[in-house]
Amino acid sequence: MSEVLVRDGGSGVTWVEINRPEALNALNASVLNELYLALHRLARDPAVRVVVLRGAGEKAFIAGADIKEMSSLKRPEASDFSRLGHSVATLLESMPKPTIAAVHGFALGGGTEMAIACDFILASEKAIFGLPEVSLGLMPGFGGMLRLQKLLGVSRAKELIFTGAKFNAEEARVMGLVRQVYPQVSFFDEVSKLASQIAGLSMTAIMEAKALIQEFSEPGGLHSKVDAEALHFGALFDTKDAQEGMIAFMEKRKPEFERT
Ligand code: CAA
Repeated sequence: MSEVLVRDGGSGVTWVEINRPEALNALNASVLNELYLALHRLARDPAVRVVVLRGAGEKAFIAGADIKEMSSLKRPEASDFSRLGHSVATLLESMPKPTIAAVHGFALGGGTEMAIACDFILASEKAIFGLPEVSLGLMPGFGGMLRLQKLLGVSRAKELIFTGAKFNAEEARVMGLVRQVYPQVSFFDEVSKLASQIAGLSMTAIMEAKALIQEFSEPGGLHSKVDAEALHFGALFDTKDAQEGMIAFMEKRKPEFERT
């Protein structure tokens, strides 16, 4: 079965579901490639008016990049993996159709990064966000450092990235990351209702507005900045801390980082 499911939800709304619930929908290279191709196709399909991204299963939207796969990457491959994540996030952000992240569980690391690349985030009361990469000896690598500081300001972005702290849906709403929090039981119905409402409006006007908002929000050139992130993300894979952090996750123990 495919690890990215694309489902027509009616009224012009298309659901894209990451389908690796046994790994809490962690993103490996194969899923990222599949996701990129699916989004690329949806961006050009005139029947698709709104795209909703979600995770399969009860527990997670996306629990981040796949740590098990990343643990065997060397520096240049890690930079390429980061670039692959950027290409998906950039597509979510810049594709002509509106994109909504529907977060009903864990959205950690690359999960928060994919969510904030969408036009906006709707969350259930069970959603948990966070950028715990430093606890693995890593840093965000899917464009999160730039997007988070644009959304929340430099100081809050630093706080969240340096502490790796997890925060819940209501906290995310208060800080401006999440637009609306819904009860878990009715969550996907509520998302569907809002997505259908948007899909019923003028797509010509919405797409024009999205393109212009995108142009206004990138005066410094997003691409050179996210590529710098990919290079630095890759460089961390040469460090003992990154090796220790990822191995400790797989061995289900606390990492012992260098004290130099
Ligand atoms: N990568 C690979 N596998 C993952 C994963 C990930 N990011 N997150 C969870 N899994 C796997 C677990 O290893 C486990 O597999 P096994 O049953 O084979 O052991 C399975 O999913 C279920 O997870 P848990 O047993 O850990 O579930 P839990 O409820 O006890 O904990 C959790 C849930 C708090 C989300 C925990 O799984 C966790 O901390 N996951 C990692 C989160 C994280 O650090 N994400 C950032 C990744 S780095 C990144 O994203 C870099 C980037 O920006 C590019």
